[in-house]
Amino acid sequence: MKSWMRATTTLTLAGLLAAAAGAIVLSGCTPKDSTTASATVKAIVDRTPDDHSYAKPQEARVTHIDLDLTADFESRTLRGTASLTLETQANAKQVILDTKALDIEGVTDASGAPLKYTLGQGDPMMGRPLTINLPQGAQKVVVRYRTTKDGTALQWLDPAQTAGKAQPFLFSQGEEINTRTWIPTQDSPAIRQTYSARIVVPHALTAVMSADGKLTPDGEAVPGEAGEHAFRFTMSKPIAPYLIAVAVGDIGFKAEDEHNGVYAEKVMLDKAAYEFADVGKMVDAAQKLYGPYPWGRYDVLVLPPSFPYGGMENPTLTFVTPTVITGDRSLVSLVAHELAHSWSGNLVTNATWEDFWLNEGFTVYFENRIMEQVYGKDRADMLKVLGYQELQGTLKDLDSSGHANFTELHPDLKGINPDDYFTDVPYEKGAAFLRMLEAHFGRARFDAYLKGYFARYKFKSMTTEGFLADLRVNLLHNDDDLEKSLKIHEWIYGKDLPDNVVVPTSAALDEVGQQVKAFVAGADPKTLNVTDYSSPQWQYFLTQMPDTLTVDQMVTLDKTFDFTQSHNDEILFDWLVLSVKHGYRPALPALETFLTSQGRAKFCTPLYQALMKTPDPWGPQLAKRIYAEARPGYHFLTREAVDPIVNAKQP
Ligand code: BES
Ligand code: ZN
Repeated sequence: MKSWMRATTTLTLAGLLAAAAGAIVLSGCTPKDSTTASATVKAIVDRTPDDHSYAKPQEARVTHIDLDLTADFESRTLRGTASLTLETQANAKQVILDTKALDIEGVTDASGAPLKYTLGQGDPMMGRPLTINLPQGAQKVVVRYRTTKDGTALQWLDPAQTAGKAQPFLFSQGEEINTRTWIPTQDSPAIRQTYSARIVVPHALTAVMSADGKLTPDGEAVPGEAGEHAFRFTMSKPIAPYLIAVAVGDIGFKAEDEHNGVYAEKVMLDKAAYEFADVGKMVDAAQKLYGPYPWGRYDVLVLPPSFPYGGMENPTLTFVTPTVITGDRSLVSLVAHELAHSWSGNLVTNATWEDFWLNEGFTVYFENRIMEQVYGKDRADMLKVLGYQELQGTLKDLDSSGHANFTELHPDLKGINPDDYFTDVPYEKGAAFLRMLEAHFGRARFDAYLKGYFARYKFKSMTTEGFLADLRVNLLHNDDDLEKSLKIHEWIYGKDLPDNVVVPTSAALDEVGQQVKAFVAGADPKTLNVTDYSSPQWQYFLTQMPDTLTVDQMVTLDKTFDFTQSHNDEILFDWLVLSVKHGYRPALPALETFLTSQGRAKFCTPLYQALMKTPDPWGPQLAKRIYAEARPGYHFLTREAVDPIVNAKQP
């Protein structure tokens, strides 16, 4: 869609919104008013196309997926069937699904009668549309298929790549447009689907999914295939397809309390359970803020180290990187983040990937509120300052990298892989926007608004325009002057950070800044007042160090604080970036271990970047050597990010 078309849409909306506002004025603030606003919002969302899906849901829409899949670790494929329940227009002749890198073996109706289908040419980013001819009144299609090695959602790990080293592992990562590489369905976050699944795996392994039914092997023998067993799952609430997730491995479970617990490779279970013992408190805090937890259980699954993200908010089962397991619970804000997505993202979902900030910006805001509730204002303030610092760096980098439009909260992503828009902008600028609103309206009113927003749109998908329409009616009360003075348009569609941003401050981090200054001015690090520093304080300490640092200063820092041996991967990462930048060679073995033992893109990408940028050739040489060793173990997404940096693409 072109920008002028958006402008037209906004104009026609003005009429609708005035009508909605009028209804409120006439009848007072009754639930009917929200209903009127919600109808307006629905109209907006329904007419917003998702440029990253071939589906035409107005004609035929997938409402339920029933998977029957076998995980074959020998051939590294999932194979079986996806039976899709459809809601169709009376005259619908076909249904269009998204697929990518799938071998489609056949399509039938519910009774097993073959249906005609075509697999379109498609494109490298979107994959291929699977168009299935529908007999009159058909409500179900069954697709028989298998995944291929070119798929981007599944990573199959050798035993050596796991913590336990004895069994293989498989996990999926659907967000943003990868689900179509393991399930042929309408892969758009605006097309919510319920699902059920039967997953057949080798007898030694356990399957879990983002659904109910975890850890209940039904012991069912699969005829003709000895040594396998099946697991059954049900997700009875409609979710966006990027949230369908599976993991298979030597997975065990430890309950934290009645409602939540931890899944991990068995050898990791105790450590994982210790690390995430506060999760129940976080759930309580979250529910107090924005309404009842909507998904039944909340569990965390610790993945093997190649998991490419910090965390992924798969419903009922957050996936997390093992790099947050420090032994001292210092990085649990990541779980607060993924938990917050249970509302912002999973309950109310970005309808297109151009609305990604509705997921991530809301979640960063909400995450920090949970942290404040559970760990206090000081810790929450520190995290806010770190986020804001990162945002400023990102805005500067994007501006000079030719991606200036990625500094917008609502960028035009047509023809662009939404993965490329994975920066701090939707996260931190989005959260900053909400904090500006909070500061203006006060917490009580803003919280009431957000709670109402989640209640009004639960189990629905939302666009930026839809959100703005709701905001106008339910928070701004259609006060145009107020909307202008708050610079709402500039926040959402502009490139810069508007000047009414509330710059976060933290007394504790200001104090850290003083210690950095003292050190730079020549103080012996032993004399610095850093006793009992928490993780954010150390992170600030390291990221505030000036570019003028000398190798001698690096040596004294390491001698005093032992950063090279840090068990906290966030601190180690910041230290390794400094070490590369300033040529501190004693840290290089630790750097190599770090890059070859975990594959989180957020850590790998900047480190390879720093290595490639060293003035002498040692950096690029080392980057190439380490990458040659590490790349086969990295997830597709991390390879995609690092390949162009190291420029050493290998098959
Ligand atoms: N939903 C994201 C992960 C994601 C984003 C996957 C885009 C695929 C595409 C998740 O909630 C997230 O934001 N994870 C962060 C951690 C968080 C604490 C900021 C990450 O992985 O770094
Ligand atoms: Zn997130």
